[in-house]
Formats: sequence, structure tokens, C-alpha cells
Amino acid sequence: MTPQQPAAPVKTSGQRPRILLIGANGQVGWELRRTLAGLGEVIAASIEGGYGPIIDLLDHGLLARLVAEARPDAVVNAAAYTAVDKAETDRDVARRINADAVGELGRLLAERGIPIIHYSTDFVFPGTGKRPYTEEDVAAPLNVYGETKLGGELALLDSGAPSLIFRTSWVYGARGANFLLTMLRLLREKDELRIVDDQVGSPTWSRMLAELTALVLYRVLRGDLDLKQVGGLYHLTGSGEVSWFGFAQAILERAELNCRLIPIPSTDYPAPARRPAYSVLDNRKFQETFGLHMPDWRVSLDQCLELIPC
Ligand SMILES: NC(=O)c1ccc[n+]([C@@H]2O[C@H](COP(=O)([O-])OP(=O)(O)OC[C@H]3O[C@@H](n4cnc5c(N)ncnc54)[C@H](OP(=O)(O)O)[C@@H]3O)[C@@H](O)[C@H]2O)c1
Repeated sequence: MTPQQPAAPVKTSGQRPRILLIGANGQVGWELRRTLAGLGEVIAASIEGGYGPIIDLLDHGLLARLVAEARPDAVVNAAAYTAVDKAETDRDVARRINADAVGELGRLLAERGIPIIHYSTDFVFPGTGKRPYTEEDVAAPLNVYGETKLGGELALLDSGAPSLIFRTSWVYGARGANFLLTMLRLLREKDELRIVDDQVGSPTWSRMLAELTALVLYRVLRGDLDLKQVGGLYHLTGSGEVSWFGFAQAILERAELNCRLIPIPSTDYPAPARRPAYSVLDNRKFQETFGLHMPDWRVSLDQCLELIPC
């Protein structure tokens, strides 16, 4: 095939593609259940099995059976070990879920030529830079979570599976454990809150991430995108940047709550895992390749808050 020719569509007309979603009960996975539903039949696997088959990424035999039985045309993996602080003392389990299982999944899909979209993190970077990180910048994680996620990226790329890896950051939404929902609770409960002001990143709404994932996957399934040419790493986060303190302030103003916010340095809020001071990602490669754009984080925050009863 010459570089100009599009890849063959996964299904010919009339057949609905089968999409295996792994991690269907996570923040991003839960949104993906909805956004992927318009593309085909979603086989929504999760560790609890509430929406479809049970999957535990620690069990490679189960993973192989899931792929064989689901017979997917594409896979989206939104499952991960995401407890950043706990990973510091749970390195082995974090590595098995975030790196080893991703490599194993990649090998299973490479054998069958099945494309996969997988997520990674801004925490692969050390955060010492002063401008947004590009995909060309050298990854050097500060913590175990970042190390294991980087391991997953490398394992997937090595596996030979047709893959897209979207590195995202500071994910929040109307459901799940996240900064927005924690802040809305604390801002109501407390008169005063101390928030870290020396870590800067880009808040990303789980729903926008799921929507853009679906738009890209649509083109993969139609054969409009050849992952041999455009596969690999992409940065995909809300546009713009802010500190945790600035993010908290924006939530406070929009929710019209009364609480005094005090900016503090990270050293006043010690946590087991070190975090990057500046982990803003440059989305230009994603925009130029797919012609899609993540809205400014403030726009997405407004839209997300409309979904949350105040
Ligand atoms: N959240 C963020 O701020 C953030 C930032 C950058 C990148 N990311 C990446 O974005 C992706 C989606 O993250 P998210 O925010 O949606 O995370 P999340 O809400 O923690 O969801 C992760 C899901 O993975 C499941 N899971 C954990 N261990 C598993 C296992 N052994 N087998 C199968 N499933 C397992 C979890 O189930 P249980 O909850 O039942 O354990 C959970 O449903 C991940 O790749 C993450 O690394 C997230």
C-alpha cells in the first residue's frame, strides 16, 4: 500500500463494528460507554463486570479469553492503576496493571491486527520545563505511577499492535474520584482551604476526552486513518494551563460558594509521590493530525458543572 492510500475499513457496510472497552467503570471509561455506543457494539469490560464481561488486567489468561471471545474490531483501554500515592508502596501491582498487562494486550492485538486506543499521563515528565511538553520531549517520571505508565507506553509501542496512545492530564468529571468533586464537597464543608499553587497543569474533562477519542476511533474504523502512518503517541488535554489553586478558585467562583482559599507550596502538603511542577502538554500534534481541538479548560469546566446538581 502506498502512503496515500487509506487503510481498508474494518467492516463493510451494514455490519456494526465491535468495540472492546476495558475499564468501563472508571472516570473516562464510563464516559466512553456512552460516546462509543454510536460507533458500534460496545463490549464494556470492567473489574466489577457491571456492564459486561469481567476483566482483571492482573490475569493474562482472562485477558486472552476476553479478546478471543469479544472478537473486537477495535479496543479502547481506559483501565489503569491510578492511585498515584499508593503506587509508591505498591509498585509491583501498579507495574503489572499499567505496563505488563498493556504489553500483553498489545501482543494479543498485534497477532490479529486489531487497533487499540490507550491512555497515558503527563506524569511521565519531570515537570522542570517552562513550556508545554511535546511528544518529542524526553520522559523522566518522578514517581512510580509515572514510571509504570511510561512502561505501558513502551510495551504497547513494542508489541507492534496498531495503536494510538493519548497522554492526558488532571482528569475530572461529573462522576468518579476527582479534584472537581472533592473541591465541591470541601468548599461546602470548610471555611478555609489550603491549595497547592506551585504545580501547573491542564484540567481535562473526562467527557471531552471520550468525545475526541470516539471521533478519532470513528475514522480508524472507517479506514480513513492508517495507524501504520499516524499511530503512536499524542498529547490530548484541556487547552490552557492553571495551578491547582487557580483551578480551585475557578470552581469556587462558578459554584458561588463561600470559602477562603489560601495558596500554599507543595512542601506544605507533603504526599508520598513526587509530582511534576509544570506538566502542561502541547496538543498541536493531535490537532494537526486529526483536525480536532480540545476546548479551553474553563469552557469545559462550565459545561461539566451544568451536569452537577449544586
Ligand atoms: N485521572 C487522571 O487525572 C489521569 C491523568 C492522566 C492520565 N490518566 C489516565 O487516563 C486513563 C483513565 O483514567 P481514569 O481517570 O478514568 O481512571 P480511574 O477513574 O481510576 O479508572 C481506572 C479504572 O481501571 C480499573 N482497574 C484498576 N485495576 C484494574 C485491573 N487490575 N483490571 C481491570 N481494571 C482495573 C479501575 O477499577 P477500580 O476503580 O474498581 O479499581 C477503574 O475503573 C488511565 O490510563 C489513566 O492512567 C488519568
